[in-house]
Amino acid sequence: MKIQIVNDYQQLSEVAANLVAGQVILNNNPVLGLATGSTPEGMYHRLVQMCRNGVLDFSNTTTFNLDEYLGLSPDHPQSYHFYMYRHFFHLVNVPPQNIHLPPGLDSDPSQACRLYDRKISEAGGINLQILGIGVNGHIGFNEPHNYLKTGTHLVELEEETVEANSRFFDSPEEVPRRAITMGMRGIMQAEKIVLLASGENKARAMKEATCGKISTRVPASFLQLHRNAIFIVDREAAALL
Ligand code: GLP
Repeated sequence: MKIQIVNDYQQLSEVAANLVAGQVILNNNPVLGLATGSTPEGMYHRLVQMCRNGVLDFSNTTTFNLDEYLGLSPDHPQSYHFYMYRHFFHLVNVPPQNIHLPPGLDSDPSQACRLYDRKISEAGGINLQILGIGVNGHIGFNEPHNYLKTGTHLVELEEETVEANSRFFDSPEEVPRRAITMGMRGIMQAEKIVLLASGENKARAMKEATCGKISTRVPASFLQLHRNAIFIVDREAAALL
């Protein structure tokens, strides 16, 4: 695991976009694992610019998103489907049939989880996985627990996560309490992992994830075991390193 400390959010977004761009340029059929949240927004913005300028072509790219709230339809403004189309998919040329997100509305979510993992395998696995990090050290929606799950699965969100994500909703009561997330196996099997952390509210999670013991109480700490993981961290998030 490598840690790169950058000055600010602008630099973080630039470095992250360049890493994704490198993957897309070098690989004939890149498979990207994508994340939502406010942290990767700047990265998506730069990737869109590169695509519009003709620097990047996503026509052979396949994507798998990490997670989705359970119970939100794709056109719900706070769903991760909506986020991804607004910030990225509507603005670049990833073929629609190559775009995958865990379904928030499915009559059989457990079956949908198994199907999602199968699709990742059929695509040959993820070449580059982008991650954010929750204030409690979660990745995707793999929450701190006394055990972690391997495959894509349903999860009850921690109060801390609901509170952190309530800023996107009109009230905390509207934040879904359940989600569907790629599991630790899906994440850890990616060839390369790029975790982005920005702002002082991520400092504690960054310290625990990078300097602490590997623990299911800090899911991001497992990235210490990955051979090709890089944490791009701005100065505020790196304050305790
Ligand atoms: C959510 C998402 C995570 C994301 C985290 C941090 O809980 N499920 O994938 O990493 O939020 O989001 P932000 O970047 O907005 O702090």
